Amino acid sequence: MSKDSGGNGEANECTLALIKPDASNRPDVGEIISAYSALPQIEIVRMKFFYMDRNFTQKFYAEHKEQLFFGELVEHMCSGACIAIYMHGPNAVEEVRKLNGATNPAMAEPGTLRARFGTPNGGPKNAVHSSADIFAAERELRLVFEELFINVK
Ligand code: RTP
Ligand code: MG
Repeated sequence: MSKDSGGNGEANECTLALIKPDASNRPDVGEIISAYSALPQIEIVRMKFFYMDRNFTQKFYAEHKEQLFFGELVEHMCSGACIAIYMHGPNAVEEVRKLNGATNPAMAEPGTLRARFGTPNGGPKNAVHSSADIFAAERELRLVFEELFINVK
């Protein structure tokens, strides 16, 4: 479901971005959503404001469960609301990751969302998440949008 022909040489993909609890209640959170919606040819097809609990976060970030930062990451993700943004379009996984920027906001390119809204050297407080590849995207989209998951594109 995550990849199909875009008819323009580039594959259409689905991906998930999350606005994390350190950014979801900023007065300028709309600028983050606007940046995603301004990505050329990439459409927002669903959005959801929700709260991750411990159980859900551990499942969502299972790949990191052996990492030293895992506890801190789970605490942070459960500390407030998240906004999930489901996007679809050519090369969407990479385009959204480029817009998000490097994991540590101190290293993120100027103009990226983590450079603009993240906390430099702030561990889990880097404002946004996005799926690493199309397989992660499918897994994460199912987890977050499970109750109404339909392949709309
Ligand atoms: P994400 O999954 O959130 O889009 O971030 P990413 O691919 O750039 O980074 P990843 O390695 O998947 O790490 C997931 C999240 O864990 C927190 N982290 N903290 N203290 C640390 O060294 C550290 N490393 C990673 C970040 O919140 C990162 O986004
Ligand atoms: Mg990741």
